[in-house]
Amino acid sequence: MIEQGIDWPKLLISCKNNVMEKVTPFLKMTKKPQPDLGIGAGGDPVKQVDLAAETAIVGTLATCGVSFTLISEESGEKTYGKKPSECFVTTDPIDGTTNLLRGISFYATSIAVSKTRNLNGVFAALVTDLFHGTTYSAQKGIGAHRDNKRIAPSQNASLSDAVIGLDLNSYRVERIAPRLTDLIGKTKHIRHLGANALELCYVADGTIDAFVDIRGKLRATDIAAAWLIVQEAGAFMTTTDGKPLNFKLSPKQKVEFVATANDAMHEKILSLIRPEKDME
Ligand code: IPD
Ligand code: CA
Repeated sequence: MIEQGIDWPKLLISCKNNVMEKVTPFLKMTKKPQPDLGIGAGGDPVKQVDLAAETAIVGTLATCGVSFTLISEESGEKTYGKKPSECFVTTDPIDGTTNLLRGISFYATSIAVSKTRNLNGVFAALVTDLFHGTTYSAQKGIGAHRDNKRIAPSQNASLSDAVIGLDLNSYRVERIAPRLTDLIGKTKHIRHLGANALELCYVADGTIDAFVDIRGKLRATDIAAAWLIVQEAGAFMTTTDGKPLNFKLSPKQKVEFVATANDAMHEKILSLIRPEKDME
């Protein structure tokens, strides 16, 4: 997909290749404590590896002469080139930093490109599993791919056979967990792997049947790329009310969502999540 004279799919591959190269030295330091280098724009502590990955992405784009507004979990918003309002690059340079630093082999880089500051303006996306080297990509209207092969979600609609990802990670668990007990009780296998962009790609390619994060803690930067991959694969991703997701692409923007492989599974899961008002 050529936009503004740029072959974005090719350029995103160059970005992830550079990220993989720059991240490699850090993989030798797993399990050693890494200092916090302050708090990132998304509100979490920043590690050196996060900055190395972000620098790799920005450096690749800048070397190619691209004008863009960066929307990053680490540095926040910055502009590059002469026409930065024509293109927005939303990134979580490393999704799953804790996994990476602990030596848990599940972490990714995530990059989305849009013409506007809104999620529904995203037209090209890439999420790469940095440990296994698997790349998920999507272009608006053209489909989603894993390492250049077209992907499709699972057709399973039965919770008694399902593998469902659920993020209950350390946030308002006393309010969130009770809303999910019906779903947990009816689901065969519950998982949380620790890198939500990649877990959404697992919904897109049929590895798992759904992924749910209703904490209201996750940032827009974590899911902007995976959202397009889920859509283009033909899976479903909405609010808990079943409304389409759309929000401002900003490092401060928080999101919650239900992503599922198919319509029938979507209806089932939405009906099992208790509304927040019932918790009052
Ligand atoms: C984290 C991962 C994790 C989720 C956290 C996120 P990060 O991303 O996606 O699965 O539970 O809420 O912050 O911080 O490693 O980019
Ligand atoms: Ca991150």
